[in-house]
Amino acid sequence: MSVHDLRSWTHDRHRTVDDTPYGGGPGMVMKPEPWGEALDAVAPPTAEATPRLVVPTPSGRPFTQAMAAEYAARPWLVFACGRYEGIDRRVYDEAATRMPVDEVSLGDFVLAGGEVAVLVMIEAISRLVPGVLGNRESVTDDSFAPGAMESLLEGPVYTKPPVWRERAVPDVLLSGHHGAIARWRRDEALRRTAAHRPELLARLDPAALDKHDRKV
Ligand code: ADE
Repeated sequence: MSVHDLRSWTHDRHRTVDDTPYGGGPGMVMKPEPWGEALDAVAPPTAEATPRLVVPTPSGRPFTQAMAAEYAARPWLVFACGRYEGIDRRVYDEAATRMPVDEVSLGDFVLAGGEVAVLVMIEAISRLVPGVLGNRESVTDDSFAPGAMESLLEGPVYTKPPVWRERAVPDVLLSGHHGAIARWRRDEALRRTAAHRPELLARLDPAALDKHDRKV
């Protein structure tokens, strides 16, 4: 992985990367020239590989676990972090003639720049790259991981000791009864999803619910 400073592709004394927006309005817009030169240098498609350009922006498509998995399988990702009010549109349009360009949002809030958003994406992506996590199984139960618990939030977890400050671990987890444990975990996941993300429950495929689920 390498990190680059956009200002290395400026040619003026102040190493200017932004200017006022055409049409007026508040804030500054990132100039196309440094971005163009930077992408020519950092993301040149070759006969062997084409990079995927990922631009974090609050006006992008929402970042999901499925996107993290898709990116984890890609040989070459280039992240372009904007600041200010955004990057001149022509940079996206011109880059898109040579490579896929994804504008991606982390959620309905506004960060000062894309750098922290990219750190978040890199963390989500890299843990899905085989060999990065010690225990591969630990990604399969994740909230949002594909599988039986897809689109349910993960429920609570416990470890030793069995009683702590007079609070006992739920008996079922100590029972050794794998079927009952799986049922309990699913019930807890359904309850948590209903409490924190009711819209996810509403979107569940009714065929994915069993008769126990409906009682939770
Ligand atoms: N840059 C600024 N805000 C952002 C957000 N919510 N997601 C991704 N990138 C951003």
